[in-house]
Amino acid sequence: MDFDRYDRIRPIRWQGDRLNLLDQRRLPFETVVLECRDSDAVAQAIRDLVVRGAPAIGIAAAWGLVLAGQSTEAADGREALARLGPDLARLRAARPTAVNLMWALDRMARVLAGAGADWRERLEREAQAIADEDLAANRRMGALGAALIAPGSGVLTHCNTGSLATAGFGTALGVIRAGVAEGRIARVFASETRPWLQGARLTVWELLQDGIAATLIADGAGAHLMNTGAVQWLVVGADRICANGDTANKIGTYAHAIAARHHGVRVMVVAPSSTVDMATARGEDIEIELRDQAELLSVSGLRTVAEGVQAWNPVFDITPAGLIDVIVTERGVVERPDPAAMARLFG
Ligand code: MRU
Repeated sequence: MDFDRYDRIRPIRWQGDRLNLLDQRRLPFETVVLECRDSDAVAQAIRDLVVRGAPAIGIAAAWGLVLAGQSTEAADGREALARLGPDLARLRAARPTAVNLMWALDRMARVLAGAGADWRERLEREAQAIADEDLAANRRMGALGAALIAPGSGVLTHCNTGSLATAGFGTALGVIRAGVAEGRIARVFASETRPWLQGARLTVWELLQDGIAATLIADGAGAHLMNTGAVQWLVVGADRICANGDTANKIGTYAHAIAARHHGVRVMVVAPSSTVDMATARGEDIEIELRDQAELLSVSGLRTVAEGVQAWNPVFDITPAGLIDVIVTERGVVERPDPAAMARLFG
């Protein structure tokens, strides 16, 4: 397919001495780039959702470590690893649920541990490799996932899993881009994704850039949409996939998956192998990020809830493997995920 036609947004740009992040808090109305010059600025940007989406935060953190290395003196990689310990720890703690963050930093630390005097170049090459591999994985998953969708289908997606959430092209949104390009997907619906509105602010905006018509729905309209027969697939991304196939993703995914099973809509999870965490046995072992209740009590900075009301704001949920029909990764497809099927591809 013509990737250039569908893949023009780049949320993360390495500039040699700084990391430029497209500020996703300001989209879709303002295009503002935030310059990060040290690892603390990158950790803060991840915490504040300037950059977000599981693969994207892993890539940004890897570049954050490169920045930290630029102001660190060390004779070899081992010494650098010891000196960069606090930077690694702060980047790692920026958000708890998406395993891509820890995966990318572990990979960077392994490279450091084996590097000599050229450790700075090795770090930079590794961060670039993480980004390049993510883009290639997304393109591969786009083809694998789209091939499962019958021509003329409708799909519902949740949150933002596009170029903005990755090195480019996207995971679930990559499948949707490929499916539309191949004429398999005739209707795209995106749920708004309260409270941060990744679907409303980011996903439909991204699709608009590509000339792909998408219809926005309220999160609570998912079951009703499925009942009309307009969608045949729920296509979502993931922040962590456990050894048994249980999947953490944006809050609201679980409710969509339950509704999908009830209505005979198939559920596809699309994520690179960097999102698979075989060390975590099942969903209940995943830490679910709780964010500030202020995100729920206001919309675009305007308070919408009476003073004195308390809110609970978990931003991810777990979809049990039993509700998932297929997990698409760049290594291949896992149908009806369970521990044995996961181990065959990731053991
Ligand atoms: O809180 P966010 O916006 O970082 O959450 C993002 C999601 O839940 C995505 O669905 C997931 O990270 C996959 S992105 C390719």
